[in-house]
Amino acid sequence: MKKLQAPVLQGLLFKQKQAKYRFHMPGHKGKLLEIYKPLVENLLALDFTEINGTDDLYNATGILKEGLKLLTKDRKSKNSFYLTNGTTVGILASIIALTNNGDSILMAKDCHKSVYNAVELNKLNPIIIENEIAGSGLVYPINENTILKALEKNQGIKMVVFSRPNYYGLCNDIDNLSKYCTKNNIYLLIDEAHGSHFSYSSKLPKSAMELGAHISVNSFHKTMPAFTQSSVLNLNENLTDYECAKILNTVEKLQTSSPSYLLMSSIDIARAYMEEFGEEKLKALKENIEYFYSEIENLNWLKVPIYPTKYTKDYSRIILETKVPAINVQNYLEKNNIYIEMISKNILVLITSTEDTKEDFKYLAKILNEFEPNNINIIKKSENTSSNITPLDGELIELANSSGKTLKENIIIYPPGSVYLKSGDKISQKDITYINTLLESGINIYTDFNKNINFLYVAID
Ligand SMILES: Cc1ncc(COP(=O)(O)O)c(C=O)c1O
Repeated sequence: MKKLQAPVLQGLLFKQKQAKYRFHMPGHKGKLLEIYKPLVENLLALDFTEINGTDDLYNATGILKEGLKLLTKDRKSKNSFYLTNGTTVGILASIIALTNNGDSILMAKDCHKSVYNAVELNKLNPIIIENEIAGSGLVYPINENTILKALEKNQGIKMVVFSRPNYYGLCNDIDNLSKYCTKNNIYLLIDEAHGSHFSYSSKLPKSAMELGAHISVNSFHKTMPAFTQSSVLNLNENLTDYECAKILNTVEKLQTSSPSYLLMSSIDIARAYMEEFGEEKLKALKENIEYFYSEIENLNWLKVPIYPTKYTKDYSRIILETKVPAINVQNYLEKNNIYIEMISKNILVLITSTEDTKEDFKYLAKILNEFEPNNINIIKKSENTSSNITPLDGELIELANSSGKTLKENIIIYPPGSVYLKSGDKISQKDITYINTLLESGINIYTDFNKNINFLYVAID
């Protein structure tokens, strides 16, 4: 048969051979779980649409209703819902449903870009709290007290949003904050994209639903064995039936009208699997990670950071601080078939899940032990596309000449998909220096519109 021109498939088949050790999402790690076999072995046969008997997500009365009922029980929510467009759509829908043009929203600077996009789409007034960032590039969550003080100072805020855990697995307290928000009619939306697995182990932080947030959104695909894009929206008891209906109706407006049965089955399977085996498997994972730490403790170029005690940490998220540029270590790991989730300047972020085995950690430790920090490595420069689209109501100028100009697009660091500067911000010389440092560290940074960080779309003076 003639070789088909299918570069995506061919590229993935090639990458699959290289990426043998996956310390990145999705949480199934490319391994075929027994519980997935009925789905995976009948992938095409089970890729249904809404016909008699398969139900309809937006008017569920049959198998989806049953699945949602089990999901709601599992999440300890008032109502949980399948998202087949990832956590992104859950965040967009929640913010758009519960706020009106001109409302104030209190958010952490390191919020995911979907929060910034919702702010832009609903023309909200963002009040942004800056995160503390360590020299290594590690970002800390915002303290509960800082958020409470900001709420006291800025009366009339409609909603508070931040990620918990953050990309580094760190969680702030939200007990008092959720009580304050409920009492003062302020919605608390927790982006719990990275915390889907929390409720399956008492050694993990408590979930946002348990702690009284109004809304949380989980990316099942990040830390649980689920296909990419499989997320869930959780609505809590402190929302009225009308508020819940409004949010779900907005999901229906923003999400695909053909939610994939493969993704919804995947959410169903991941939930059932974690309910049955989660506790035991997470316990084994914790032991394997402790073993891994003991195997690398003598390395003088690598350490596990110590965090301020005011934060709780998800033990499943491995954060390693490097004395050498993290990009060099990432390149070295990739040469040895190990792929990780993300780097910042001197930080490696590894996503682990119940599917990582002791063998995986043994190999990772062995390869790290063989790393020669004194070898000169060439830093891989991050690549930019260069489209140079001509804007209608602004101008494109070089990054180097942009100090003092007002941005007309967001500047995004990806991963993790956080917004460094948003549209409307003034660019300073300090920003230009910082962006150049990120580029030199091999970190991907691009713009919303033109995608090329060397050129920025700015307002004409
Ligand atoms: C903190 C955070 N929130 C939200 C999202 C979006 O999640 P999804 O990819 O499920 O749409 C991400 C994705 O990386 C994330 O890191």
